[in-house]
Amino acid sequence: MSTPVKKVPIHLQSAQNRLLIKNGKIVNEDEIVEEDVYIEDGVIKQLGRNLIIPGGTRVIDARGKLVIPGGIDPHTHFEFEFMGTKSVDDFYQGTKAAVAGGTTMIIDFVFVKKGESLIDAYYTYRQKADDKACCDYGLHMIVSYWSDRVREEMSILCSEHGINSFKMFMAYSFMLNDSELYKAFEACRKLGAVAMVHAENGSIVSQNTERLLAKGVTGPEGHELSRPEEVEAEAVNRACTIANQVDTPLYVVHVMSKSAASALVQARERGVRVIGETLAAALGTDGSQCKHPCFQHSAAHVLSPPLRSDPSTPRSLMISLAQNDLQLTGSDNCTFNKTQKELGINDFSKIPNGVNGVEDRMSVIWEKGVHSGILDPCRFVAITSTTAAKVFNVYPRKGCIAVGSDGDIVIWNPNRTRVISAKTHHQAVDFNIFEGMECHGVPEYVVVNGRVCVDEGLVKVVEGYGNFVKTPVFPPFVYDLENAEKLRPSNNGIDDLHQTPKGEDRKVSP
Ligand code: URP
Ligand code: ZN
Ligand code: ZN
Ligand code: ZN
Repeated sequence: MSTPVKKVPIHLQSAQNRLLIKNGKIVNEDEIVEEDVYIEDGVIKQLGRNLIIPGGTRVIDARGKLVIPGGIDPHTHFEFEFMGTKSVDDFYQGTKAAVAGGTTMIIDFVFVKKGESLIDAYYTYRQKADDKACCDYGLHMIVSYWSDRVREEMSILCSEHGINSFKMFMAYSFMLNDSELYKAFEACRKLGAVAMVHAENGSIVSQNTERLLAKGVTGPEGHELSRPEEVEAEAVNRACTIANQVDTPLYVVHVMSKSAASALVQARERGVRVIGETLAAALGTDGSQCKHPCFQHSAAHVLSPPLRSDPSTPRSLMISLAQNDLQLTGSDNCTFNKTQKELGINDFSKIPNGVNGVEDRMSVIWEKGVHSGILDPCRFVAITSTTAAKVFNVYPRKGCIAVGSDGDIVIWNPNRTRVISAKTHHQAVDFNIFEGMECHGVPEYVVVNGRVCVDEGLVKVVEGYGNFVKTPVFPPFVYDLENAEKLRPSNNGIDDLHQTPKGEDRKVSP
């Protein structure tokens, strides 16, 4: 259910500016404690039992429930102009869906057309987002071409506009070649920015696509055939190698395959500082869906790198998250309706790439990770919120429940279930890749900057309520060598999880 609320003046939004969450269990990435949370004017002011609080404070009873930091989705594409069309979730509907699912901050990617000023593109996105975002948001920049001017603008964006991350593509028409990647990574290191990479070998993808189309393979099943696992793994390895030459920590977005995850681990073993992100889509479904006879169904599952046909992939990637071989999750929400996906009805390479996930990421990961016994609730918090806050340098303001942190909180009921469906989701898109999945774990209340935006399951967001959050350079998590050590493989006694059918020993009941 949802109640759309149009923008109201800020002073009228906070009639309820004091909130006490009582009797719940607070889950942070490092511990679970039984404490109440008192929030005033959007900020967590007190933690503990028997708090002394002003009269007139709203009280929510969280007995039997978990009180967790709001999710941070570091990877969305709202209103993204891509492959000849534009993604249908805009900053209003996308962030509303995020909040409905328990995510209280998103970080979107500013697309920069070839030759366009990065700063102009940044302002275009700020304009798109500022009046629409229902929760706080940050921005990454896409570096789609290379020049001295790009390097200068990267520096201005970092010093004056709250940007600390740049994504470079190794595929698509706007991919950078190895020399350009070298220069872009080097620029990131000088600025203390996070170098992000879409790792697929674009030249091989083009050749394979031509070959497949010539053979008459035109349907969505051709998508993965054109970009198999080793094409992803080769690019991960190459990106890691280039980054290491210029001593730049690297963030690999959307690790989609076991081969790519292994390439990342191998790079780390030889000393490369690399952070790996995977997606709700990769954890919750698989590439067999792209062979479905219905075009809408199969095309709806097309994204890049592709969902893998190896059915053991989702569980394996979840185990990689448990073992810290991968560090965090995003959604890569980039949604296209049936008619847009039909741009590729006769040619899989023209199917706009992208899937949903911003709304369901938290539930899907709880279901496939915590409920299935692979993750404990603390690790769930780390991979859905805290690590993103650390990587993009907004921790401890975001990503944890602590005095002084923003009042971004989810009251999570692990004992309730919901069934995901396009009929009930809050996204603009007409399909849901998780359709029919029953998920344990329901966000009953979602508090965004102290305001209850999901109230007993009822969505009550305010368009434009979210703020742009500046992401400062030199995140300690990325740039401190001491922290980099923590990325190295650890043998926490869980290194046999890949073989264990159900990691029961890791299960911590909430
Ligand atoms: O298929 C995808 N992933 N679409 C969004 C663009 C990107 O590469 O992240
Ligand atoms: Zn990408
Ligand atoms: Zn169908
Ligand atoms: Zn993406």
